[in-house]
Amino acid sequence: MISNLSFRYGLLFSIFSLLFSCAPEPPAKGAVVSAREEASKIGVAIMKKGGNAFDAMIATDFALAVCYPNAGNIAGGGFAVYRHSNSEMGSLDYREKAPLAAYAEMYLDESGNVIPKKSTFGGLSVGVPGTVAGLEAIHQRFGSLPWKDLVQPAIDLARNGYRVTEKQQQSFESNKEEFIQMNGEHTLYAQNFKAGDLVKNNALAITLERIAEQGSAGFYQGKNAEALISRVQETGGVITFADLNAYQPVWRDPIHFKYKDLDIYTMGPPSSGGICLGQIMKMIEPFDIGQYKQNSLEAVQIMVEAERRSYADRSLYLGDPDFVQVPKDSLLDVNYLNQRMATFSFDRATLSSDINPGTIVWEESEETTHYSILDSMGNAVAVTTTLNGSYGSKVFVDSGGYFLNNEMDDFSSKPGVPNMFGLLGGKANAIAPEKRMLSAMTPTLVLKNGALSMIVGTPGGSTIITSVLQTILNVYEFEMTLQEAVNAPRFHHQWLPDLVTFEPKRFDAGFIQKMQAKGYDIKEEYSRIIGRVDGIHISEENEITTGADPRGDDKAVLFY
Ligand code: DON
Repeated sequence: MISNLSFRYGLLFSIFSLLFSCAPEPPAKGAVVSAREEASKIGVAIMKKGGNAFDAMIATDFALAVCYPNAGNIAGGGFAVYRHSNSEMGSLDYREKAPLAAYAEMYLDESGNVIPKKSTFGGLSVGVPGTVAGLEAIHQRFGSLPWKDLVQPAIDLARNGYRVTEKQQQSFESNKEEFIQMNGEHTLYAQNFKAGDLVKNNALAITLERIAEQGSAGFYQGKNAEALISRVQETGGVITFADLNAYQPVWRDPIHFKYKDLDIYTMGPPSSGGICLGQIMKMIEPFDIGQYKQNSLEAVQIMVEAERRSYADRSLYLGDPDFVQVPKDSLLDVNYLNQRMATFSFDRATLSSDINPGTIVWEESEETTHYSILDSMGNAVAVTTTLNGSYGSKVFVDSGGYFLNNEMDDFSSKPGVPNMFGLLGGKANAIAPEKRMLSAMTPTLVLKNGALSMIVGTPGGSTIITSVLQTILNVYEFEMTLQEAVNAPRFHHQWLPDLVTFEPKRFDAGFIQKMQAKGYDIKEEYSRIIGRVDGIHISEENEITTGADPRGDDKAVLFY
């Protein structure tokens, strides 16, 4: 009897669970897409607790500082572009600043030549960090859960450990020599971590506890400030308590421009991202690029030529708006941009030397990280944050468990001499005390017919702007899903060097030959992976889909 009953209940249960498993998933109410699954999950867990997208941002960011130490950070900086559920659009600049003791020629020798590695490796390359102050400012203005609750998941992750991925193992291995050179053999990340190992970072857990207890004062003052400053000074840097005390993030108006039925809101100076993205898209708009196939010869030519012209302007006009006048309106003026494109012909590549003279060397780009967040109330944040190079200056504050940035390299050390991304700059981006170095980071929100439609961004140094551009065009002009748009092969041009870079093995030889026949310089040895785009798309029917870049360990986690 009993067994008969339990058999019947068992049968009923199986039928129910079968029905249940066949039922369609409920529609997602939000999402977090970031460079690491742990961080995305932590962001979603905060939303499940009732937190909003801004709360999730803080928790995700601190989690990335633990489990993505090449770019996630507490001693770097970043930009957030947001849309509040009340429709307010805005941006926060928590970019690093040059120390008070910085000066224009600080990376030059007596003959006026740039000293190799001075602006990229060691204490002198470190900008005054902005991340913790930035996250605190977000919390004070928009946060809904207690600050401590947002830092706690990262404290737990640091204490309990995170798993090393295959890609991370390779990254630790390839940087090991420099870690040791800068920090000695016993430094945490010089240990031979293998994929699957657990990394516990107790020192970082303690630093984060201070931040949880004291807010940004736990970072910019007291024990942490002492440890940071002594580490910077031991490794040749000049940051002082006065620098840490003076650091303030800045709320800025985002760059806004229209492209067909889209309204695009993106980061303004001290990032070049927004102005360049705006210039490039406005130069492309009259060509109705959607009439060509995605990555066809014509489409690539139009984009490359617009990129060339915009990056030339970047090198001359863009810098920290608190120090130099950036002619934003003139640069985005449609007549000016149409006139710039008047010299373009499908027959033949324009030469960068005809746009502006100069020859430079290009170097491999390193790491930054972008994440996109949407909550169920319609708050959206696009955040790009960085140490600049992978693991920044490689200076590790052992007692604090974190790396320091090498953002000073984003300044122009000398006019005409490229930085590590091959980017040129002039007076507008010269070093000065308390100035912010020019960035290419482009966290972006797209509105379609007035409604939120996309949250997007990427790392990739100089290729950030062109990767964001391609993702947007892939979706809105070439009708791809966001994931397809993110996966699609990418290319890049930045005026100088006068080269088009294509992702390796993703464009066929015939296509490359046709480009070369038009006069485009393409060198296979410069081909490399471009960007790691993480985004969220909201359809006109309110369906949420995501794009997490398969080039990294990036992961989208939906919030139901
Ligand atoms: O702000 C910038 O433009 C650079 N510091 C970003 C560096 C970067 O994206 C490196 N990542 N691949």
